Amino acid sequence: MSYKSHSHAQWSSRMAFVLAAVGSSVGLGNIWKFPYMTGESGGGAFVLVYLICIFLVGLPMLMSEWLLGRLGQKNPISTMGDITRRLKRSRAWVLIGVAGILGAYLILSFYSVIGGWALAYIQMAVVDTFSELNNDSVGTLFGNLLASPVELLLWHSLFMIMTIGVVVGGVAGGLERAAKTLMPALAVLLVLLVGYAATTGAFAEGAAYLFTPDFSKITRDGILAALGHAFFTLSLGMGIMMAYGSYLSDDVNIGRSALIVVVMDTVIALLAGLAIFPIVFANGLDAAAGPGLIFQTLPLAFGNMAGGWLFGLLFFVLLVFAAWTSAISLLEPLVEWIEERSPLSRVGSTIVAGLATWALGLATVLSFNVWGDFAPLGMFDKFAGMTLFDLLDYVTSKLLLPLTGLATVLFVGWFMGRDELRSQLNMSDGAFALWRVAVRFIAPIGVVIVFISSL
Ligand code: PHE
Repeated sequence: MSYKSHSHAQWSSRMAFVLAAVGSSVGLGNIWKFPYMTGESGGGAFVLVYLICIFLVGLPMLMSEWLLGRLGQKNPISTMGDITRRLKRSRAWVLIGVAGILGAYLILSFYSVIGGWALAYIQMAVVDTFSELNNDSVGTLFGNLLASPVELLLWHSLFMIMTIGVVVGGVAGGLERAAKTLMPALAVLLVLLVGYAATTGAFAEGAAYLFTPDFSKITRDGILAALGHAFFTLSLGMGIMMAYGSYLSDDVNIGRSALIVVVMDTVIALLAGLAIFPIVFANGLDAAAGPGLIFQTLPLAFGNMAGGWLFGLLFFVLLVFAAWTSAISLLEPLVEWIEERSPLSRVGSTIVAGLATWALGLATVLSFNVWGDFAPLGMFDKFAGMTLFDLLDYVTSKLLLPLTGLATVLFVGWFMGRDELRSQLNMSDGAFALWRVAVRFIAPIGVVIVFISSL
């Protein structure tokens, strides 16, 4: 078969594609957000719902975005425009692309601030701050960082500059090559941390917390949070995966590649949880500490273990890399959109997009100190006590992503022909039928139920 003679080139291009997708999906969502959300939502039941969402909604949805992108071959808005025109469907579906760009912009504004926290912890590791930490001072250390708008601003700015730098320079290829070794390194380091967690004496407790569902602890809002996080962690509902799909050659097997990305993303998140919760319980820390959870637990571990200085440094460097590759993919849609619709060059568009994101990031920076008590929607019970950062997180993960996700699966499931879809997905008839049931029924009905019940 001629396929054989080409198989190497195909394999390497598929590798590059999968790597880019993993680079976007594995990031702060896995290591920072997943553990703290699990802790806030009471553990195992949240994890179970999250896993169900990942495999029943996230996986079919990832495949849908890729196949749309491959069919349209353009940026998300133009892709949806072309496909709807060809299939004679309403232009309103283009809103999927618009909502996606908005979502990516809002997310990056706070993502960069958290990426900045990780940068700050690199510096702390370098000056060996972790070695004298105890249960109290690890919290104080984090609290002091948050209390200083100037420090947060500096780190946020640095993270944004790093992101803009890569997107401007078009050196994403270099970063991707680096990611090829750094991602596995991150996984290895997480496994080592899990190994350390096993020595704390609370490993069984931590594992049970993650994997024994106690449904009395989960709320409807927790279920919506799990669903939204499935989208967040897989970079779905923002047109990003659609854009990646547009570079996809016809011979890449979408189903298999999607499964690889989803499994890797899930494994990294679960490893992070397995590393963190034993440390939480062994030291009597608060599992529901919120967004500071990893920053208030892992440094304790680094302070206690032999060579912890080095491990701490490595960990935060790798975390920054993972966040960086995700941040680049978050900036890209806005840059492309500006470049297409304005006379600005690529460089100009990137700088404008970056500056606009940086500026909105100030809202998050101030949410942790000066505006800590400012709850703009506090007059509504549902949003009581939510800072601007909380609202940005809420609006993106619990509104925008699930809604654009819903629109995408509805479009693919109900407004595209079976034969066209079949020709895009090179999989067994059984797997295809299963995917179609997920896209037509399970995912949309699931999203609608979760959505309505939490409102
Ligand atoms: N998936 C990334 C993470 O888990 C974040 C992200 C969201 C990146 C949306 C791109 C788009 O950290």
